[in-house]
Amino acid sequence: MTSPTSLSRRRGRSALLRDVAGRMVWLLAALLPASSSAGAAGGEVEVLHFWTSGSEAGAVAELKASLHRKGHVWKNFTVANGGGGLAMVMLASRVNSGNPPTAAQIKGAAIQEWAQRGGLSSIDEVANADQWNTLLPRSVSDTMKYRGRYVAAPLNVHRVNWLWIDAAALKKINARPPTSWDEFFAVAEAMKQAGIIPVAHSSQSWLDMGTFESVAIGVGGVEFYQRAFVQLDPAALNSALMVRTLATYRRIKHYSSSQSSGQDWVASTAMLTHGKAGMLLMGDWAKAEMQAAGKRPGSDILCVAMPGTAHAFTFDIDALAMFQVNDKNRQAQRDLAHAVMDKDFQLAFNLAKGSIPVRQDVSLEKFDDCARRASADFKTSARRGTLLPSLAHGMAQPAHTVARMWDVINQYWRNDRITPEQAAAQLAAAARQP
Ligand code: BGC
Repeated sequence: MTSPTSLSRRRGRSALLRDVAGRMVWLLAALLPASSSAGAAGGEVEVLHFWTSGSEAGAVAELKASLHRKGHVWKNFTVANGGGGLAMVMLASRVNSGNPPTAAQIKGAAIQEWAQRGGLSSIDEVANADQWNTLLPRSVSDTMKYRGRYVAAPLNVHRVNWLWIDAAALKKINARPPTSWDEFFAVAEAMKQAGIIPVAHSSQSWLDMGTFESVAIGVGGVEFYQRAFVQLDPAALNSALMVRTLATYRRIKHYSSSQSSGQDWVASTAMLTHGKAGMLLMGDWAKAEMQAAGKRPGSDILCVAMPGTAHAFTFDIDALAMFQVNDKNRQAQRDLAHAVMDKDFQLAFNLAKGSIPVRQDVSLEKFDDCARRASADFKTSARRGTLLPSLAHGMAQPAHTVARMWDVINQYWRNDRITPEQAAAQLAAAARQP
């Protein structure tokens, strides 16, 4: 199978052609036969997901093992393009042909969209028996329900607005972790002067948006984020603050790796892990790759909130939405829902995944400092009203809106001739389209 890295190396000049070509290759990859584990006596669970990096696959293995223990057959339906854009295309094609998987990794607003189309199945029986309402924060449980009934099971909470810094690189320039974008650029400049590539960059539109939305908080604040990305207020999207956000975001480019050739998130995380870049702007799925490479998050690699966002927490919750299955596989689906919210599973999965458990009663004793910080900040942000659904990860808007906004930001990053004013107008237009 073509890897994201080798795929991106072959990317051409035109952004459009590059995206189309990329999507087609992943489409073919996804059509390859799914791997399965045979021999169990129970039902079958086929799960569509995009967890294909080493650390992600390790986390999924925990779920697979749990279903095996119940005697079910696990079938992977993987679509490898991080961020999940193509996974949704593949899912639509399977559902439209009347052959949905048992469950699919679907985010926030898209869960509601799938439920509205009538494709999802209620798992209330399991959720009620296992008391999900008391185990989950209300802000999470609401998004897992459609018309008051659970249709999806949440696995974790990822924090998107993290900045990862190689402690050795920071020491070399004798600096502290930056807390504002001005400080960030001062650190980046000092790293550059010291011969260190300041920022490991990935050329994936969902990641560009993840950084961009965090810059918006640092530049414009929480209320601005809510108006622009949650309410899609055109006056906030096409505003002087958005223009400043775009201008600040573009400055990061001057300090980033891979100006011309693309690379995926695993490759840019590896740059940081292997001392080839000083900083990485990315959610904590990256931490799992760092750990898998033997680094200690919190000491070898420092975790701080993206500049100017320490008071906020942009969340990305992975969930498995349940599709309608035949009677033969109904029990297997129930067991899957039960397994996802099982306390031991939440511990094992999240330790492997870099995220924190979505169940609020799991001890964090075995987790690293960054996870403990994430958990504390999640709670504080929930109290202060600064818990923000990540636009980049489909938590704030439906998938088609998110995809259009991803594209605007991605084009803006690639093409220096697009002015911040033009990009702000394009963002507002992208949000307006039905
Ligand atoms: C998902 C994570 C995943 C990451 C990279 C995010 O959107 O929520 O589970 O690890 O993308 O693929």
